[in-house]
Amino acid sequence: MAGKPKVFVTRRLPAAGLDRICQQCETEVWPEQMPPPYDLIRQKVADCDGLVSLLTDRIDAALMEAAPRLKVVSNYAVGFNNIDVAAATARGIAVGNTPGVLTDATADMAFCLLIAAARRLVESVHYAQAGQWKTWEPLGHLGQDLAGRTLGVVGMGRIGYALARRCRFGWDMQVLYHDTYRHEKAETELGARSVDLDTLLRQADFVSVHTDLNETTRGLFNAERFEKMKPTAVFVNTARGPIVIEKDLIAALKNGVIFAAGLDVTDPEPPEPSSELLRLPNLIVAPHIASATVGTRNAMAEICANNLLAGLSGQPLPAWVNPEVASKRRTSASG
Ligand code: DGY
Repeated sequence: MAGKPKVFVTRRLPAAGLDRICQQCETEVWPEQMPPPYDLIRQKVADCDGLVSLLTDRIDAALMEAAPRLKVVSNYAVGFNNIDVAAATARGIAVGNTPGVLTDATADMAFCLLIAAARRLVESVHYAQAGQWKTWEPLGHLGQDLAGRTLGVVGMGRIGYALARRCRFGWDMQVLYHDTYRHEKAETELGARSVDLDTLLRQADFVSVHTDLNETTRGLFNAERFEKMKPTAVFVNTARGPIVIEKDLIAALKNGVIFAAGLDVTDPEPPEPSSELLRLPNLIVAPHIASATVGTRNAMAEICANNLLAGLSGQPLPAWVNPEVASKRRTSASG
C-alpha cells in the first residue's frame, strides 16, 4: 500500500482508539453530533481502505459496492445489525465489532432499569419534583419486591449471564433462561434453568432481553407474549428496539397486562417526540446508554482501532464478525 491507508470515521471516538487511527492512517473524522447521511458515507468511502462505523450507520451492499478499495469495516459496537455482513463477506471485506468489554456496563444498565421500573423510581422522582409530595403515604408509590423473585433471561449470552449473576448473588433470585444453546456455566454456577419461552414468560417476575436482532427475534415481544407475562411483571430491553412491537408494549403497560418496563433501546431511535413511549408513568426510556461509561467506551475504542488496523494490514481481526472472509480478503494489490 503506498502511503498511509485512507479511513473514514463516522463520529468522534474516545482518544483511546482514535489517536492510534489518526497516527497510522490518513483519517477523516465526521465532526458532527448527528450521524453523517447515508449518501455522504457512501461518497466518503469511495476511495477509502477502512471505515469506522457506528450502530446508527447503515452499511449495506450498495454502499460497499461503491467502495472498491474497502478492506475493513470496524463497527464501534458489539451489535452489528446495521451492517450487511453477508454482503461484506461476498466482497472480501472484513467486519469487526467490540464484544466483551461492554458486558458489565450493559448488565448494570439492565439491572438499573429493572430495579428503577420495579420500584417506580422515575415516576416518584417526577412526583417530588412537581411539588406533589405532601406526606408519607402508606399506599403511595407501591412497587415490586426483588429479593427471592424469578428472573427470566431471553438470550443467555455474555450480558444475559452477567445480569443473571447479579440477580442470583445480589438478590437471591431464581434464574430461568431461554436460548437456542444451553449455558452450562449459568446452570452450574447460578442454578439457572433452560426453559421454553412460554414457561419463562409465565413464571418470571422480571423478563430481560439480551438476544441479537435477527429475523427470528424481530418483533419477538408482541401482544401475545406480553399477555403471557404476570400482571406484576417488569420487562427490560437493553438489546435492540425492533425486538419489541412497541405499540403492543404500550398497550400492555396502559392496560395493566404487565406492571412496568424499562427500555434502553427503541425503534426508531430516538422515538418520535410525540410517542407515548415517552409519556407512560410505568415505562422508563433511556437514550441507548448501556455502554456509556468512560472505561467501557475507551475499551470499545481500543478494540475498534485494533480491528481496523488489523483489517488494513491483512491480519486476523481481534474481534472478527466474519472470519469466513479470510480466504478472499481484499489486499492492497487487489484494491
Ligand atoms: C452495542 O455495542 O451494540 C450497544 O448497543 C452500544 O454500545
